[in-house]
Amino acid sequence: MPFKITATGMATPALSIENRSLEKIVDTTDEWIYTRSGIRSRYIAADETADSLAVEAAKNCLQQSGLAPEDIGLIIASSATARTVVPCLAAKVRQELGIQQAVTFDINAACTGFIYGLTTAQGLMQSLGIRHALIVAGEAMSQMLDWEDRSTCVLFGDGAGAAILSQSEAPGVLWQKLQGEEDPARALRYSRAYHETPFSKEGRKLRLLKMKGKSVFQYAVNEMARLIQKAVTESGVAIEEIQHIIPHQANIRMIESTAKRFEIDLKQFYMNIDHFGNTSSASIPIALHELHQSGKLTSGEKVLLLGFGAGFTSGAILLEW
Ligand code: ACO
Repeated sequence: MPFKITATGMATPALSIENRSLEKIVDTTDEWIYTRSGIRSRYIAADETADSLAVEAAKNCLQQSGLAPEDIGLIIASSATARTVVPCLAAKVRQELGIQQAVTFDINAACTGFIYGLTTAQGLMQSLGIRHALIVAGEAMSQMLDWEDRSTCVLFGDGAGAAILSQSEAPGVLWQKLQGEEDPARALRYSRAYHETPFSKEGRKLRLLKMKGKSVFQYAVNEMARLIQKAVTESGVAIEEIQHIIPHQANIRMIESTAKRFEIDLKQFYMNIDHFGNTSSASIPIALHELHQSGKLTSGEKVLLLGFGAGFTSGAILLEW
């Protein structure tokens, strides 16, 4: 059964914060942040949450699709920062969109969540005969950051992106890969608090995000290269035939280094990290939506989505638009 992305959507918080404003919070400079990461500003959820952003992106996507709410048979929400745990964020999205009946659940594959969601959706659409699925990723990274840790708080931002995947005549998904592997240095961690119980006397405090930047950087650069190599070898589509590469927006230097390794023109990589920072699993669907809206993505073109994140998880999907 072939599948195609038929609509995209996104949402951002109202507040955008420039690097210079962060100079007042931690010992940093606009110059350090920009030269080390490529980030100039990021959206920060002051009045929003990952949940409200996900709902807004999903509504935007449904509106763009022209489908009726009852056409959506499956909703997968990706988030590591959702306020809602039970019922799941996808159930909240279903309710807010006025969808009476749909399979709903959440996934967390860190920054690779949207790619995991797209691949998971295809399996369920196939086995349950669902025609249209909504995959939405919403993140409020600012709410899991340690705002006294300059090595992390300057790098992340908030937002949400969504896509509708539909059964189609011609294949829109040409190739895909999901991976999970050892992170020996435990390079990226965040854990929620839990209470003591009558049986376990030790509760645990919230542990804000901790990252070993160099380990993540090294993994990500190598993994992006491996994924591009696999995409080309296993799909039989040459790199020159791929018009757009949308990598997870974590650091511009990672993208530049990948482009150099494959001698790919940097212009082939879609980048919006300068005004978003790293929005974790929302970064790829936001970028896809922006590219789609810009009119630069035309029918028949090939797009490679490249994701990696904590775990480590990684994944890639080659689309024909
Ligand atoms: N402002 C000023 N100085 C800083 C800041 C800051 N915000 N943060 C760190 N520094 C200092 C460090 O303390 C260090 O000082 P020292 O040399 O006196 O000890 C110096 O800057 C250099 O630090 P490095 O860690 O060597 O800087 P590096 O060039 O490695 O860049 C960075 C750091 C940007 C974090 C880089 O390693 C990186 O991008 N890593 C990957 C991060 C990432 O992508 N994470 C998420 C991916 S997965 C996911 O999205 C969930």
